Amino acid sequence: MCDKEFTGTSSDKTMNRQVLFFIFLFWIQTAVTQVSYSIPEEMPKGSLVGNIVQDLGLEIKRLIAGKARIYSRSSEEYVELNRERGVLLVKKRIDREALCTETALCALHFQIILENPMEFYSVTVQITDINDNSPAFEKNEMKFRISESAATGAKFVLERAVDLDVGINDLQGYVLKPTDHFGLKVHSNTNGNKNVEMVLQKPLDREKQDQISLVLTAVDGGEPQMSGTMLIVITVLDANDNAPVFTQQTYKATVIENSPKGTVVATVTASDADQGSNSKLTYSITNTLDNIRRLFQVNNENGQISLTDDIDFEKSRHFQINLLASDEGGLTDSCKLIVDVQDINDNKPGINIMSKSNVISEDAKLSTVVTMINIEDLDSGENGNVECFINENIPFILKSSTNHFYSLVTDSDLDREKASEYNITVTCSDEGVPSLSSSVTLTLQISDVNDNSPVFERSSYEAYIVENNTPGLSIFTVKATDADWNQNARVAYILEDSSVNGVPVSSYVSVSADSGVIHAVRSFDYEQIKDFQFRIKAQDGGSPPLSSNVTVKILIQDQNDNPPQVLYPVQTGGSVVAEMVPRSADVGYLVTKVVAVDVDSGQNAWLSYKLQKATDRALFEVGLQNGEIRTIRQVTDKDAVKQRLNVIVEDNGQPSRSATVIVNVLVADSFPDVLSEFTDFTHDKEYNDNLTFYLVLALAVVSFLFITCLVVIISVKIYRWRQSRILYHSSLPVIPYYPPRYSDTLGTGTLPHVYNYEVCRTTDSRKSDCKFGTVGSQNVLIMDPSSTGTMQRIQSEKNILDEPDSPLEMELGRQRSANAGEDGYLNRERKYFYI
Ligand SMILES: *[C@@H]1O[C@H](CO)[C@@H](O)[C@H](O)[C@H]1NC(C)=O
Ligand SMILES: *[C@@H]1O[C@H](CO)[C@@H](O)[C@H](O)[C@H]1NC(C)=O
Repeated sequence: MCDKEFTGTSSDKTMNRQVLFFIFLFWIQTAVTQVSYSIPEEMPKGSLVGNIVQDLGLEIKRLIAGKARIYSRSSEEYVELNRERGVLLVKKRIDREALCTETALCALHFQIILENPMEFYSVTVQITDINDNSPAFEKNEMKFRISESAATGAKFVLERAVDLDVGINDLQGYVLKPTDHFGLKVHSNTNGNKNVEMVLQKPLDREKQDQISLVLTAVDGGEPQMSGTMLIVITVLDANDNAPVFTQQTYKATVIENSPKGTVVATVTASDADQGSNSKLTYSITNTLDNIRRLFQVNNENGQISLTDDIDFEKSRHFQINLLASDEGGLTDSCKLIVDVQDINDNKPGINIMSKSNVISEDAKLSTVVTMINIEDLDSGENGNVECFINENIPFILKSSTNHFYSLVTDSDLDREKASEYNITVTCSDEGVPSLSSSVTLTLQISDVNDNSPVFERSSYEAYIVENNTPGLSIFTVKATDADWNQNARVAYILEDSSVNGVPVSSYVSVSADSGVIHAVRSFDYEQIKDFQFRIKAQDGGSPPLSSNVTVKILIQDQNDNPPQVLYPVQTGGSVVAEMVPRSADVGYLVTKVVAVDVDSGQNAWLSYKLQKATDRALFEVGLQNGEIRTIRQVTDKDAVKQRLNVIVEDNGQPSRSATVIVNVLVADSFPDVLSEFTDFTHDKEYNDNLTFYLVLALAVVSFLFITCLVVIISVKIYRWRQSRILYHSSLPVIPYYPPRYSDTLGTGTLPHVYNYEVCRTTDSRKSDCKFGTVGSQNVLIMDPSSTGTMQRIQSEKNILDEPDSPLEMELGRQRSANAGEDGYLNRERKYFYI
């Protein structure tokens, strides 16, 4: 039965049971007035809802007759009544969710109304849910921005999904995939809603994954199950969880010293996995105590390390720069940069004189150390390898003793006379490229040693002096030079002792010790000595002194100081000699020959004969060279018997000197002729008597003068005796004093030659010197009042000879008296010496 009543879908068994229950109730109480059906939603149009004819126990006729219709308060009619069939059919689509929203029990309530008689029946059509709605999210996508530093357990509320279905078809749960980081937590609300949260289960790491996509799936419990999804996009926000990291812990770089400021030495790089400001790195140098910060700087943005100051290999060869990279979050990393400085050849070798001598003796031994030098080159390697050398061609070498030490030593003998000074340039250069060098110049003086003896300018000297020189005349000068220096080169000239003709040479010549001037000490007479020689020694002032000597030969030159002397015819005072010429004598008859000699020599002795005066000039001639007197014409009777010829004999000196001789010639054939003429000759006797008279007169005058002299001398002697008593009290050397008038009285013009001496006397007799005065000097006595002064006295030679107290004067006197004995007749002019 029951099966018949239910014409619904066989699938709705439970609904059928409910309907049954209601019918049963109706049946029991009264007639059934109410029927209930249950249909699922979304039945197709025309689907059977219920067979009311059957269920209400009505007949189709009644339905038609009663005009059965559905009455509903709601305007919409989902169900229609088919009267013919007596069934309710789905009129239009029934959506439970639209009809009832969330209400779990959803039913359509309406009445079926019949007329004739009027009756109604309530019909309830229960709409059951079918899973026709999937859970749905309002948005397809949800975005989150979560810091990577978010702690685990952090919750993020997700949007709920909504399922319009109810019951089992409603939302049952959520699924989140993938589940790496997040899990889900669902809270059931009091209103039955489920809130869903996403829970961080594992820390995020932006550096690994900066964006996470999750799919949240909401599922219901329907059959088949339906689901809705939502994309969850999580952007992981950066947190400063990564420290900067240098690419290397230790960097190495080299830099050439003296590189300009700003040179980039190296670049350090650190990286930070973080993002944005968390990865913005700042580089800095952290060295504190050393001078790194003065020398280097780091570009805080790009990590370039550059020089800020001059870098000097010689000060530091390595630098360790500690670097720090920090991000803005304060995380840091450190590294170090080892900078090796490369040497360049920027230092000259330094030359230090450790000790030096400025002066070295020329007799210094070989290998005498002159200077010690220390070399220093701050560079290293080849740049610091130094070689030193000195200029060439000097007698020194540079010895390298030990590393960097040199000594300058003598290498050969020194000779101050060749080089008295050396400029030694020590040059040191290193082996760098290009090489640097420096040099120092040492000036070394060579001190003198007396190793050179004086050297005369000539190996021997010859000098000429004209006889009759004034004593004290300088003959000539010898000169010796000494190559040494100063005192060692101060030459003194010394006359070496020797004798000339048994007389010490010092009585002939003297030598001025300082100047080498040779003076004649005496007046020489060529007729006595023609030459002589002696040696002069030149001695230097060294210690010990060195000397050399030279031979000096003095040649005395003749002066025409002797007139010719007629030997024949002999000139006697009284007797007359005459030559006889016979009247028959032919032309060219040799009457006689005048014979004369001249003790001078050379031209001065070359005699020529001339007829000076003759009784008859036309009769005789004199041979110019030979002095032969010859007739030049025939003697005639007219010619006088007595012929007198004056022949002059002249020498050839300058000026020439002459002698005249009277030659008496008798022109006669026999002696009686001569006698007749004799009286003429005796006439000459009267002349001789006159001469005798004059001679006696002269003798008387001379005697008078002699007595006068004697008186004067005696008075002078007395005066001097008194004077010497005065002088006795002073230390003055005793000097003979002559009253000026004394010399005048004796010296007046009677002497053919006046020799003037200037006698100089000093307290140091070694240095005494003589000069000769001029002829005709005034006789003067100068007396120096100071005891050490020089006393000068000019006196005529005669006066000096009066007081022969010096050896020179005594010698002169001796010589002259000897001369007088030999040839007093020759030199009448000198007789005055011996009066
Ligand atoms: C050494 O040098 C000095 C100064 O430069 C100079 O006067 C002198 O003549 C030089 N001596 C030599 C021997 O070159
Ligand atoms: C003079 O010199 C010669 C060599 O020139 C020497 O032999 C001689 O001894 C010297 N004489 C004196 C006196 O010094």
